Amino acid sequence: MFEQLKDLIRSMYPGENTIPLHRPSFSQEEASAVAACINSTFVSSVGPEIGEFEKLIAKFCDSGYAIATVNGTAALHLSLHVLGVHSGDIVLTQSLSFAATGHAILQTGAKPVYIDIALPEGSMCPEALLHFLEEECKQQENICIHKASKRRIAACVPMHSFGEPAKIAAIAEICRNWSIPLVEDAAEALGSFTEGKHCGTFGTFGILSFNGNKIMTTGAGGMILCKNETLAKRLKHVSTTAKIPDPFEFRHSEAGFNYRLPNLNASLGIAQYKKLPAFLNKKKTIHREYRVFFQRFCYKLVNNPEAQSNHWLNTVIMNSAEEKEELLQFLKVHDIQARPAWYPLHRQQHLQSVTDLPLPQTDWLYSRAVSLPSSVPFEAPCYD
Ligand SMILES: Cc1ncc(COP(=O)(O)O)c(C=O)c1O
Repeated sequence: MFEQLKDLIRSMYPGENTIPLHRPSFSQEEASAVAACINSTFVSSVGPEIGEFEKLIAKFCDSGYAIATVNGTAALHLSLHVLGVHSGDIVLTQSLSFAATGHAILQTGAKPVYIDIALPEGSMCPEALLHFLEEECKQQENICIHKASKRRIAACVPMHSFGEPAKIAAIAEICRNWSIPLVEDAAEALGSFTEGKHCGTFGTFGILSFNGNKIMTTGAGGMILCKNETLAKRLKHVSTTAKIPDPFEFRHSEAGFNYRLPNLNASLGIAQYKKLPAFLNKKKTIHREYRVFFQRFCYKLVNNPEAQSNHWLNTVIMNSAEEKEELLQFLKVHDIQARPAWYPLHRQQHLQSVTDLPLPQTDWLYSRAVSLPSSVPFEAPCYD
């Protein structure tokens, strides 16, 4: 199977010596948009492209409001800050995630508790969440308390792994019933929908990333999706330097984070956004090729069959940890980038959980998952 997989990947990315896991796709349009922004001199945190980019994303996701940030990590941190998450709190999340999810929790002073994932989608399991809440937590005047540590459960941050939608409607309902604000880490899920809604629009906030490895990029960048006007205004205020409007004086109402996306990056984002439908189509084709291939050999991909995924990163589940290692080594030797899933957060010293919940599905998927090249293939030379 390994040889045939190599041939399939080489056929999807013809003419490339080293095939990357995921790299951005640009043409002259992006170069022209960035050059026009430079000519305008509005390259920093103020400029017309920021607002335009926010409106485009809010419309695409049907989120009402969208607040652009310097990256997805900052978007997560700001969301948790505005919810009032602070030192001594617990934030529920999943261990199978990029470290940024855990780091944003630590940045607030809170501690993570990891809920196991469900398969085949690889994201937070609603049943495991409910089981944890029923067994280990209680509600007191609309506040959820973890009984053993006496800490408040201040938020729940599930992540849509590899762009595959989590069972987010069920998670959102549990969070509502237990008075826990929901922040979706949809960093990888731009263009993914479930139950007729875009990922990131099921809770109080949802965040996106526009890092260079994502489905579209602003270089570095992020976005907070939010339906509530008051919260959106507050997010925007603290994402800047929290300056009180005044034609002359520099007075500030609080410690603003200066997390605003620069206009230069927003101009790149607008040009990339125009290609988003084409990117999503190509992602679908790549996913179909992998799916048909792996079906022949009886392997499964991480996938939510009931949702509409952006297929950001195709991830195959091998039969054993040994086979996973063999595939990673084989592809490396043949100049094809592949990678294991993120090293589980609960096994990393600085990200350790308040509790010691067993995470069998997380450990199982980590030991077998291999992410495969999933970039949109180049069509033309990049730019002049
Ligand atoms: C799941 C997840 N959360 C958060 C982030 C953070 O985004 P950024 O790199 O834009 O800070 C990323 C990706 O980079 C991610 O994959």
